[in-house]
Amino acid sequence: MNISEAPSLEEAKRDGRLYITQPYESYSEENHQAWAKLYQRMLPRWHRYANPHFLEGINALCLDPNRVPRLEDVNRFLRPLTGFQAKAVSGYIPAFLFFDCLRNREFPTTITIRRSDKLDYLPEPDIFHDIAGHVPMHTDKHFAEALVRFGECAHTAAELVSGIRDPETQVHCLTSIIRAMARFFWFTIEFGLMRGADGLKVYGSGLLSSYGEIAHAIEAAEVQRFPIQLEWAINQSFEIDRYQPLLFIVDSFDHLFSLVDQLESWMKSGKLNNVAPGEPGVNEEDLRSFLHAGQRRS
Ligand SMILES: [Fe+2]
Repeated sequence: MNISEAPSLEEAKRDGRLYITQPYESYSEENHQAWAKLYQRMLPRWHRYANPHFLEGINALCLDPNRVPRLEDVNRFLRPLTGFQAKAVSGYIPAFLFFDCLRNREFPTTITIRRSDKLDYLPEPDIFHDIAGHVPMHTDKHFAEALVRFGECAHTAAELVSGIRDPETQVHCLTSIIRAMARFFWFTIEFGLMRGADGLKVYGSGLLSSYGEIAHAIEAAEVQRFPIQLEWAINQSFEIDRYQPLLFIVDSFDHLFSLVDQLESWMKSGKLNNVAPGEPGVNEEDLRSFLHAGQRRS
């Protein structure tokens, strides 16, 4: 038995159920070994490259270095700190629902884990990316507030586009807004760098869960690292299957929060309706999730 083949997971996928209970007994010894290997090789790199809020978060969550975490154990430590909790999901969550979870201080969490003989970067998230990469950041009050604020922006978007009567214009604007939000998320929450008293550190979860890229992001001469500019980030396409050649730096999580505020005010003024085309793609499910939410509100 392996977690990817857990009957309850396959059933949930078949029935289209997004939120599930973590079938903890389905993790195999190989699954636990994969976690242990990932965690142990990352630890020295976190100490070297991660921002101090992340390191505090890792300590606060009391993760077991040797066993795949139980979400309920993680939540017992996490909830009192910021109200956030990890919520097990069966697979891909359409964009609006994902952002809406953040607004409710819930983090959709993948429960499968990569194979122990394939530890390096994989494009889709797994429990190591979600629990060891994202969740420690959710223990920080300022970061958590920025994430909730970002989730609120999805509601603003759904409401705004629900007021556009022409269907073609509506889909055009919504696609552009989702693209802008996805780029913002990518260049901050997933791949963000932060400047602090002890130099440049990583706070983006895509970097925090990648053994190779966390060092590359800070050390490699060819990586472009610039203070974040919102107009740049929302118009910048990216590729998910390579080390990022361009990274953006924030000063603090209050700075990040103010950028999310600005993103929302640009959304309201129509500035996100025509961002540069290119990656990431916006799929049908993502569009439908926003349109559906907008209909419920109007
Ligand atoms: Fe992620």
